[in-house]
Amino acid sequence: MKKILVTGARGQIGSELVTKLRSIYGDINVIATDIRSSEEEKEKGPFEVVDVTEEKRVFEVAKSYQVDTVMHLAALLSATAEKMPRVAWDINMGGLVNTLEVARELNLQFFTPSSIGAFGPTTPKENTPQDTLQRPTTMYGVNKVAGELLCDYYYERYGVDTRGVRFPGLISYVAPPGGGTTDYAVEIYYEAIKERAYTSYIAEGTYMDMMYMPDALDAIVQLMEADSSKLKHRNAFNITAMSAEPMDFAKAIEKHIPEFKLSFDVDPVRQKIADSWPNSIDSSAAEAEWGFKSNYDINRMTADMLEKIAEKIK
Ligand code: SER
Repeated sequence: MKKILVTGARGQIGSELVTKLRSIYGDINVIATDIRSSEEEKEKGPFEVVDVTEEKRVFEVAKSYQVDTVMHLAALLSATAEKMPRVAWDINMGGLVNTLEVARELNLQFFTPSSIGAFGPTTPKENTPQDTLQRPTTMYGVNKVAGELLCDYYYERYGVDTRGVRFPGLISYVAPPGGGTTDYAVEIYYEAIKERAYTSYIAEGTYMDMMYMPDALDAIVQLMEADSSKLKHRNAFNITAMSAEPMDFAKAIEKHIPEFKLSFDVDPVRQKIADSWPNSIDSSAAEAEWGFKSNYDINRMTADMLEKIAEKIK
């Protein structure tokens, strides 16, 4: 991994991943691309406007910069995908197959995230195994399972070095997530600082896996740098840092803001999605095959989130 093209570079993961990759591999060796143009991004390093549904454009940019790796992040998240399933199919699956084709043609290493959304109501809910039943009931989940299989296919059939993780809900303060089911776990921190109160659209007692962004970025780099011969799974590894429900966030926030109040106004659409996902997943395959570990539990993450958001919005 020496020269890397990132799609969806202005999204929640991309905006921090590009910074991290540039700190490791050098500014000019990370080509940030997004469908949304940005003058600010162009000042920080190579930036190109790329719509991942246009394969030719992805190919041209990858070829002209002579990249050896593509990290494909551009996608619609679960709640947005439920609002416009056909558009989600076109963007999530079209974008994936296009970038995989470019990786095949130019012999690039390939990363794309899967998600806890790749599981469904019939998947074992507790300590969900790496290899298990995957019958998701959301368009996003259908895209993720198909995507995992497609990445494995490109590896088996064409020898493309595809690698991926099943991310839990990602919590961060740099760029907001958009249209995800786990977004409440980001919003709660902003509202804690601004209003000392938050109304959760996810019900009390709904557990989902979560992870602080620094752990997610470390995981991507570590997996991509891992010895290929040690990887038995590839697409995609379960990884997690915590299993938490809304009250767990409230309790962690109360340690810093004692007057914080959590209330509930459940959104049936996102609640249904959350109920179809695991309560906690087992990351032992990632630990064994490439040494995954997380550094942030809910308390350490909460302290950092509150501090960083307070600085950001003052
Ligand atoms: N955070 C994502 C979502 O909620 C899950 O991958 O859609």
